[in-house]
Amino acid sequence: MTGSRESSRSPGRRRQVSDRLTLFRLETSQAPGGFAEDVRIGLSRSPKKLPPRLLYDSLGSILFDAITLVPEYYLTRAESEILETSSGDLVDCLPSPLRLIELGSGSSTKTKFLIEAILKRQGSLRYLPIDVSESALEKSSRELLTAFPGLSITGFVSDYQRALDYLAKEERSPDGTHNLVLFLGSSIGNLNAASALGLLEEVRRALAPGEHFLLGADLKKDQGELLAAYDDTLGITRAFTLNLLVRINRELGGEFDITQFDYKVRYDVSLGRVEAYLVSRKAQKVPIRELSLEVSFEAGESIHTESSHKYDLDQLSTLATRGGFRFQRHWLDSGCRFSENLLEAVPAAP
Ligand code: AVJ
Repeated sequence: MTGSRESSRSPGRRRQVSDRLTLFRLETSQAPGGFAEDVRIGLSRSPKKLPPRLLYDSLGSILFDAITLVPEYYLTRAESEILETSSGDLVDCLPSPLRLIELGSGSSTKTKFLIEAILKRQGSLRYLPIDVSESALEKSSRELLTAFPGLSITGFVSDYQRALDYLAKEERSPDGTHNLVLFLGSSIGNLNAASALGLLEEVRRALAPGEHFLLGADLKKDQGELLAAYDDTLGITRAFTLNLLVRINRELGGEFDITQFDYKVRYDVSLGRVEAYLVSRKAQKVPIRELSLEVSFEAGESIHTESSHKYDLDQLSTLATRGGFRFQRHWLDSGCRFSENLLEAVPAAP
């Protein structure tokens, strides 16, 4: 192992982990109050609603990884199938040489198929994963570096807005190298229409015309299948969601009795999304010490914890166009449940 070197080069902290791995910690653009303020705001509004990013503390992240393995949650398997089968094909659609940027890389398990296909064509590759979890970033980076000698990694511990901004300003790709930005796993599903468009515009601003964005999006389908994917029989998704109350108890001195909350999902046809809720089984008041707050629930009152938007190809094509991209090509898994969409940045309108 190489010794760590730390420097305080602005705008964040830079850590040279080894000769092929550098990690940057960028200051986040998130609200200064962090978790506590997010919870205060979310539980004081009516109807109650908490942002899905709060679900991913260390236990939440492990439970999400478990969700990707339950029989009903087809998304991860479908996307892996597409990337395993079509990465070569996909890379053939792209200019060379490439530099790879990934938003919310997590464990990077699906990314390895793409990295492998790119390295078949070019001997070396720079991979720039962005993730809020430093431990996930470092662990997945080490594994990839062991598997791929041609790879070098500059990781960003950051939210993706901040990192995209930084990449566009301070880490432009070397001349002749084309950026490929990845946003996999249907993470776009957590965003409403306006925020999804905002994300595409942000990615577009970080790219030059002719560069690419690969977007994984789950497709509209039979409602029963969708609801089962978010309410599995093992109860993993239920535990994943209830863990948010456990987290509030632990980090903020909350007194939630989680046996007094149910997990419920519904599909909103007009919005095309699965909605997840925690529902109070009785009228109750829950103190949260660190917030000096007591939250009242009526019997049957819910906290909206997540929405997972489902797309069809027409919607994806419209979204691409409005975001400043050409909808170049898409791939589906053999069950036609999930889509991988290749978007090319077009010149900005005059
Ligand atoms: C990580 C946002 C893609 O919405 O499918 C899975 C999160 N929540 N099961 C999704 C999630 C419950 C997941 N995304």
